[in-house]
Amino acid sequence: MSAEELLPGGWVAEVARVGDTVRRTPPANAGYVAELLRHLERVGCRVAPAYLGVDEQGRQVLGYLDGRVPWRDREDPAYFSDGALAGVARLVRALHDACAGTPLAGDAETVCHRDLSPKNTVYRDAGQGPLPVAFLDWDLAGPGRRVEDVAFVCWHWAELGPGADPHELARRCRLVRDAYGPLPGADELLDVMLTQVDGTWRGIAEGAERDVPGMRRLRAAGAVEAIRGWHAWLRAHHGALTTLLTP
Ligand SMILES: Nc1ncnc2c1ncn2[C@@H]1O[C@H](COP(=O)(O)OP(=O)(O)O)[C@@H](O)[C@H]1O
Ligand SMILES: [Mg+2]
Repeated sequence: MSAEELLPGGWVAEVARVGDTVRRTPPANAGYVAELLRHLERVGCRVAPAYLGVDEQGRQVLGYLDGRVPWRDREDPAYFSDGALAGVARLVRALHDACAGTPLAGDAETVCHRDLSPKNTVYRDAGQGPLPVAFLDWDLAGPGRRVEDVAFVCWHWAELGPGADPHELARRCRLVRDAYGPLPGADELLDVMLTQVDGTWRGIAEGAERDVPGMRRLRAAGAVEAIRGWHAWLRAHHGALTTLLTP
């Protein structure tokens, strides 16, 4: 067997590379994720690593995706360019279209990834700057509404908090919305974002209190205070943002 190399950039799972594969701590919903990744491969929706089964240690085995994951905060502005952000929105659209109406979506509109962020996105540079090619970390995927992932992208690829510019956030949200295409519930984008940002800091704080290791690490890195600050900023600019985002 080839040597194992631990991959940096994760907060929750332990991830090792072994040759052309990646071995991860299995997610709680391992069976669902396996079905989802198999479905995406079967229908030719190349937005995720290949699912390759379970190894002798019970770890999830995925195909290794070449490229770069910008897991350090804002490590290079090129990963946050308008072109790259539009590419993210198109990948999300492809995911949602590939899952809408399938048993994986159940009664919901489609399947949502629910953890879309630069740290979970593989980029490749074919000469025009890094562009997104796939998403990692499908542990939280499940049935949901399209607007949920779109809103999640809008705040994870944004700069929020003190000093942020509401006009720039609104411009980036519009760019995501335009690149995604027709979006049911688009008028709710801002409120969905607010609910998600609020739920995120509370979830980390509660998880840390319950001693969940990943959540403790996030809290120790200042995530609760930072995200709580983003929520306060979004609320403070809610009126202006609503106007800026109204079609
Ligand atoms: N299939 C893959 N191909 C390439 N790199 C990967 C792959 N899966 C994970 N990684 C790397 O490992 C890091 C952590 O993996 P991730 O699945 O996001 O775990 P966590 O749940 O800990 O965030 C990613 O940021 C990425 O750099
Ligand atoms: Mg991750």
